[in-house]
Amino acid sequence: MSIETRVVKVDKENPDPALLQTAADLLACGELVAFPTETVYGLGANALDSDAVSKIFVAKGRPLSDPLIVHIYSISQMDEIAVNMPPVAWDLAHAFWPGPLTIVLPKHRRIPANVSAGLETVAVRMPNHRVPHALFRLADLPVVAPSANLFSRPSPTTAQHVLDDLGGRIPMILDGGATEIGVESTVLDLTGDRPLILRPGGLPIEVLRPLIPTVSYTPRYAALDGTSAPSPGMLLKHYSPSVQVLLFHGAVDHVLPRIERTTRKLLEEGKAVGLMLSQEDEARFDPLGATVASLGSEDNLGQIAQNLFARMRELERSGVDVILTRTFDSHGLGLAIADRLIRATEGKVIEVR
Ligand code: TXA
Ligand code: MG
Repeated sequence: MSIETRVVKVDKENPDPALLQTAADLLACGELVAFPTETVYGLGANALDSDAVSKIFVAKGRPLSDPLIVHIYSISQMDEIAVNMPPVAWDLAHAFWPGPLTIVLPKHRRIPANVSAGLETVAVRMPNHRVPHALFRLADLPVVAPSANLFSRPSPTTAQHVLDDLGGRIPMILDGGATEIGVESTVLDLTGDRPLILRPGGLPIEVLRPLIPTVSYTPRYAALDGTSAPSPGMLLKHYSPSVQVLLFHGAVDHVLPRIERTTRKLLEEGKAVGLMLSQEDEARFDPLGATVASLGSEDNLGQIAQNLFARMRELERSGVDVILTRTFDSHGLGLAIADRLIRATEGKVIEVR
């Protein structure tokens, strides 16, 4: 069954309160609303209403085993979401909220079980964006919000991406333009013996470290060198476009000629080839006859993160049979970029030596 999806433009600097009230009323009566954040678009529901939360899993086609992030607008809401917060959690919240950091903590019993897929923990974040801030304040609710894409698709960075995936499935999308960061928040688990990054994201690990020196990150899927096997339960197929993605990893001097040879071969086979590369790489590939999508300058990882999911979706829409791309520097936002690229290839990274 299909419902009408209203897409409503909203000024991200100065959102119209009357318009946000309509969205807040939808949330309060158990409906879903998609909205921009500084990372990606989210699909929101009242976190205290388990029926509303269920609708999220249905709309996205998301497995019930995948826990959601509770979004807040004020630190004072923490009391009804998490319990036994370690002091470092407060320090991190004060330092990085609002911002692209999600903290996993022991769950308050007030939060319904389906929010956390039955876990005793809960993920919380405060987005740095005026639209969700004002929306949550009007609704005066904690709001669960996964990325507003169909399950296993690239996260949406524009309202159009949300509409492409969820049109006919949700009543309202607040369109606040393209999102700034472009990759999802960093997920930090503080419930174990040691602080662990579960998902690298918009807040680089280097920025966290001064406040939490023991923090570590171990990718839970096959490493770039192909040595470690993916652990069970780790969903590799994630953020993937519907076409095959080939990810080349190694020194750029070797990677670019290899991508060029592979492109020529695929074109000869009659394949439509999409290339997702840096602006610096572009000139070399322009004459080949592939569809080239530029992620921006490789010296500007922020730009690459911002463009990543949008370029994947564009190439997919352009009807290419395969997308070739490469890894970039893995410091700062580069860790999140590498993670999303590896997942888009379903872990099949081509090592170039
Ligand atoms: O930037 C973001 O975080 C975006 C925007 C909309 O805020 N949201 C987002 O949500 O990316 P989602 O549902 O697409 O990703 C949530 C991630 C998943 O990897 C999930 O496994 C993890 O957070 N997560 C949520 N609750 C957890 C918990 N209790 N324990 C461990 N991981 C958790
Ligand atoms: Mg997601």
